[in-house]
Amino acid sequence: MQVLRTAHEDEAASLTAGIIAQELRARPGLVLGLATGRTMDLVYAHLVRLHREDGLDFSRCQAFNLDEYAGLAPDHPGSYRRYMEDHLFRRVNIQAQHTHMPDGLAPDLALECQRYETLIRASGGMDLQLLGLGWTGHLGFNEPPAAFDSRTHVSRLMELTREQNAALFGGDVSAVPELAITMGLGTILEARRCLLLVTGAAKASILARVVEGPVTPMVPGSALQRHPDCRVIVDAEAAAELGTG
Ligand code: GLP
Repeated sequence: MQVLRTAHEDEAASLTAGIIAQELRARPGLVLGLATGRTMDLVYAHLVRLHREDGLDFSRCQAFNLDEYAGLAPDHPGSYRRYMEDHLFRRVNIQAQHTHMPDGLAPDLALECQRYETLIRASGGMDLQLLGLGWTGHLGFNEPPAAFDSRTHVSRLMELTREQNAALFGGDVSAVPELAITMGLGTILEARRCLLLVTGAAKASILARVVEGPVTPMVPGSALQRHPDCRVIVDAEAAAELGTG
């Protein structure tokens, strides 16, 4: 793991977007793994600006999102499809048929997990996977204890995770779905490169466990210590409990 330290969250997001843009320019057919959450708002704002001002071209890129809630319509304000459409997809020239997410409304969720996993494999797997970090240490919705070899599956969300994500549900924790479909840690770890973006004081303690603690299923993000090409981009607040190295 290589930790890249920045001063502020905007600098962290700008560096993250810059790395994505560089990879996309080098390989226009990039298979990009994408993440949601407030941490990503600024990353997508930077990517939209790079598209508008510098002509960053998404037309040949394929996008696979990490996860989606079960039971939400795509236009529900809390759904990750809606998040991605609002923040990125309809603001850049990515082709709609290249934007992939698990279908949280699928009648058979287990079958939907298999379909998604097969689609990822058929595309050749992710070249670059963008990741945020949950308060529980989760990646995607892989909650502790998390198997490091899991594939796309249905996950039952922890109470803390539902609290973390309540803002898009009017602050009502009970409105946050209890189930979601998520890429597994095994799926994520097969990405050729990983980029973990973590900002803000609320994540300082869990970030230190992810980066410097033991590799353990109790801290799903610690699995990234085993990834051969993982960069962790942090701001000063999130880095507060990291060693000085
Ligand atoms: C959700 C997503 C995670 C994401 C997390 C971070 O739980 N499933 O993939 O990392 O939110 O959220 P935020 O950036 O809002 O802190």
